[in-house]
Amino acid sequence: MSDQAVYILGIESSCDDTAASVLIGDKMLANVVAGQEVHRNWGGVVPELASRAHQQHIVPVVDEALRLAKISKHQLHAIAYTRGPGLLGSLLVGGSFAKGLASGLNIPLIEVNHMQAHILAHFIRTDAPIPQFPFLCLTVSGGHTQIVRVDDHLTMQVLGETRDDAAGEAFDKAAKILGLAYPGGPLVDKLAQQGNPHRFVFPEPKADGFDFSFSGLKTSFLYLIRDEMKIDTSFIENNTADLCASLQYTLVKILMRKLLLASDATGIKNLALAGGVSANSGLRNAFIELREKGYQTYIPAFEFCTDNAAMIAMTGYFKYKAGLFSNHSEGSIARYPL
Ligand code: KG4
Ligand code: ZN
Repeated sequence: MSDQAVYILGIESSCDDTAASVLIGDKMLANVVAGQEVHRNWGGVVPELASRAHQQHIVPVVDEALRLAKISKHQLHAIAYTRGPGLLGSLLVGGSFAKGLASGLNIPLIEVNHMQAHILAHFIRTDAPIPQFPFLCLTVSGGHTQIVRVDDHLTMQVLGETRDDAAGEAFDKAAKILGLAYPGGPLVDKLAQQGNPHRFVFPEPKADGFDFSFSGLKTSFLYLIRDEMKIDTSFIENNTADLCASLQYTLVKILMRKLLLASDATGIKNLALAGGVSANSGLRNAFIELREKGYQTYIPAFEFCTDNAAMIAMTGYFKYKAGLFSNHSEGSIARYPL
């Protein structure tokens, strides 16, 4: 059997998306994601509600992935699941399901680090070129912001990360201040397209080395709005697009400045983007513009930016080839460093 003929089922349940995907080698056959509307009214993910929704979605989502892939579960060679990091109650649902199915089918189980998987999403076969090693990956999601040096599929080192809020969290918290629905990142992005990015200037936070800090930016955003609302109670409605554009411009500037600092220090000019915030148009454009300055940049397809199980199955495939199988007694873990 060639490596490419390996069928792997990926299962992802670290936050509020229940996802299942089937890959044959690096080729995706199915990628199913069930989101959870239940959190919208709460302005953020409610862990208890997320676990319950995962439990309701997991079986139909896996069934649908197998149906779309046109294979039976008996054809699977291994099951890869997200072990962490994430919400523990959510991780337990996907992890327990993966273990049960792997033992029922008597096939190997592979545990996957969610942040590693975001990076390895770049290796799912598409028309786009895959990153060349070594490369630096800017991983930006709702829970993490990291600059990772990637020397090989399974050899990675975190060079810098956020000291407080994640980049996605900064988008979401600012959106909440503006009264936008959760998750606000995509809405800020959309509204920013019609706004003036230079209308409001926010101070850039200070963080050592390749680390980030976003909590100060959130506070200055909040203070600006609080002060302006005292003068004009319709300040938000009258300036939403400019506020979104200015915030997005600042966030992108902070992220790119640190990434380029890391690139200078390491001499690595292959730069990749990963995680939910890589769907952001400002960030994607900043990566595209770098191509004219001697950098190779890699941007994931939209379906692989936010949480999905294809990236879990892809990571599972590399671990499968390396013989890195898991023990059924390993537990899910909320904190799981790369
Ligand atoms: O990777 P992901 O799906 O889940 C986590 O692992 O956290 O990332 C979700 C984050 C949310 O904070 C969401 O607001 C943000 O990604 N996001 C965006 C955009 N699309 C998703 N932020 C800014 N602009 C976008 N277009
Ligand atoms: Zn994620």
